[in-house]
Amino acid sequence: MRHLNDILDLSTEEIEQLIKRAEDIIAHPGDYAEKCRGKKLATLFYEPSTRTRLSFEAAMYELGGVVLGFSEAQSSSAAKGESVADTVRTVSCYADIIAMRHPKEGAPRVAAMNSSIPVINAGDGGHNHPTQTLTDLLTIKREKGGFSGLTVGFCGDLKFGRTVHSLITALSRYPDIKIALISPAELKLPSYVKRDVIQKKEIEYVQTTDLTSVMPSLDVLYMTRVQRERFFNEEDYMRLRDSYILTPEKLVSAKSDLCIMHPLPRVNEISTAVDSDPRAAYFKQVLYGKYIRMALIMMLLGIE
Ligand code: NCD
Repeated sequence: MRHLNDILDLSTEEIEQLIKRAEDIIAHPGDYAEKCRGKKLATLFYEPSTRTRLSFEAAMYELGGVVLGFSEAQSSSAAKGESVADTVRTVSCYADIIAMRHPKEGAPRVAAMNSSIPVINAGDGGHNHPTQTLTDLLTIKREKGGFSGLTVGFCGDLKFGRTVHSLITALSRYPDIKIALISPAELKLPSYVKRDVIQKKEIEYVQTTDLTSVMPSLDVLYMTRVQRERFFNEEDYMRLRDSYILTPEKLVSAKSDLCIMHPLPRVNEISTAVDSDPRAAYFKQVLYGKYIRMALIMMLLGIE
């Protein structure tokens, strides 16, 4: 039995297979309509979500399966004090696979240790978000043709942005990747990601507070939301939230084939005037999230 807790739980070959499968689903959706007939996905979401939860649910329905679960901790027995371990033991009796989002780092790992069915980490605190990374990789593959040789800029809240941590980890396995880390000093990439991933893999990188200075070099620009829910005080959030707002003017110096991504939700960090720019890929990214999750559910359930 397999779980997906960290993006490194998948080899690059397996990621390749998932991307291939997702592209086949995009081309031939009808071939997949019965693949999960009789199977149940449980979505256990202890934190807000729109895209991740609904794309998991849409993915399971499009595979012919069904979905059960909860979308807030308050409506589950967590509100009565039940542990994640006990909840997961319970859900293992009813479902075939679990997608779990939790505000505490490591909760999906605890869940996996107590589960008799596969558990997928759908975001744990400020730590990891491997299925967003699969979504991001499929988007980069379709927009840029591959990963090797790309210069990827990460902008915004690199400290608490779990999607950033997982995507940098995934990209570090491809040759000749260059990374630009663009954030206010207070929201820098955690040192464990910088040390254990970027420096360990000897990836060429720049760290700056100035988006404009690196814009012309970027092939991909990954914008992020300042993660208000992970701040200790509101003043810090208010001070930092407008650090980077991407506008058409700031894109004047960018490459004509730049790929602009954002895991969403957006607050104000990408002006809506950018949405009509052909380089904006963030709504395509949303759609790709469903296809890659279809491929992942099939893989973890061992369905060919
Ligand atoms: C992200 C998340 O939950 O980490 N959203 C998502 O899953 N698409 C990013 C965010 O909340 O800012």
